[in-house]
Amino acid sequence: MAIRNIMKQGEPVLNKKCKTIKEITPKTLEILEDLAETMYKFDGVGLAAPQVGILKRMVTIDVGSGLLELINPEILETRGSVTDVEGCLSVDDFVGEVTRPEYVKIRAVNRDGKAIEIEGHGLLARAFCHEIDHLNGVLFTEKVEREVK
Ligand code: CO
Repeated sequence: MAIRNIMKQGEPVLNKKCKTIKEITPKTLEILEDLAETMYKFDGVGLAAPQVGILKRMVTIDVGSGLLELINPEILETRGSVTDVEGCLSVDDFVGEVTRPEYVKIRAVNRDGKAIEIEGHGLLARAFCHEIDHLNGVLFTEKVEREVK
């Protein structure tokens, strides 16, 4: 396990679409572990592989109810909408309001290669959307409606 450097806004790697993972290898698991360690180190609630310079569809999330390691996550269903303050470990000194669905159901693959579905409300739903956006090269700054000072 290792703490990785976090790429900051302006790095081209943050604006690229990540590749689907076809096979889970020891390297895949090492990246997941590093993502989690780096996320906790910097007090994030989520971290996506491109934020550490890796263009693969992998994220970790922990909104306070345990670590989620998600490979190839995709949104299956959304409901409602909530506008709330959001930030990102790749964007220093800036937070802003973003409207996201209140409920999001995702499908992903876990570290054992098993297909999983997870439902999230509120902050977890927001984290799913924010991290999956990263995998598509989208930063939350593109979606901010109002900066919060
Ligand atoms: Co982010």
